[in-house]
Amino acid sequence: MDVILHLSDPHFGTELPEVTQALIELTYQEQPNLTIISGDITQRARTKQFTAAKAFTEALQSKTKVVIAGNHDIPLFNLPMRLFWPYYNYQKTFGENLEPVFESDTLLVVTVKTTRRYRHVNGELSVTQIDRVCRLLQQGKPSQLRIVVAHHPLFVNNMVDEDNVVKGRDRAIFQWAKAGADLILGGHIHLPFIIPLHQKIDELTYPLWVIQAGPAVSERMRWNAGNSVNIIRYQESSDEPRHCKVEQWDYHDQQSGFLCVAKETLKLSLATL
Ligand SMILES: [Fe+2]
Ligand SMILES: [Fe+2]
Repeated sequence: MDVILHLSDPHFGTELPEVTQALIELTYQEQPNLTIISGDITQRARTKQFTAAKAFTEALQSKTKVVIAGNHDIPLFNLPMRLFWPYYNYQKTFGENLEPVFESDTLLVVTVKTTRRYRHVNGELSVTQIDRVCRLLQQGKPSQLRIVVAHHPLFVNNMVDEDNVVKGRDRAIFQWAKAGADLILGGHIHLPFIIPLHQKIDELTYPLWVIQAGPAVSERMRWNAGNSVNIIRYQESSDEPRHCKVEQWDYHDQQSGFLCVAKETLKLSLATL
């Protein structure tokens, strides 16, 4: 069984120490074999914030971590850095590769960089990036749960968040669905939810799910959503129709810990690619 922890928007520099500690403890309890962090690792892309973020990721009890940058991981006020070396601090901390890929017999995780130095808040996907994700997905194996990770959301569930939808998403959704994607993970809007895209878009004949994570450990919370993370469980099996289970875990002050508050089973497309 694969156990994947999906966390987003920790915004180090605004982290809550007790929540950060509780999330580390959750990884000891649930033992995820993979952790995906979908951006906004820091609040202002400062060295000290990246150092704290790195210590946190190393403290997580999880063998493999896949990390991408968010718009907050590019300097906002330091214009020369933003224009010429926007990912300098990020790459010094988390490595050169801004679009890492993880693969095992049962998982394929393809990340895509939606941040842009000239669009400080909003995100974008180029045709080249969409095609790259397609090529990687098409090389996937039928046994794999196929996950795309972007910082900006590809779909939202209310009007106030529409402006945050990544540019280029229509093309991406159709092409990635055809190429075999099962899940698209994201963050940025600090609100956890699951959306069955195949029920929202008539032309989409393949099951494809958007899974958004809330702010993992940051005090930057929306009025209607606290700190939360997702846990995805996937068991590859020839006896059952393909599916995965997604749980939302919220931080609760009274228990000083994360508790599972919602569980959903997601039906996936046929294994044949
Ligand atoms: Fe964020
Ligand atoms: Fe963001």
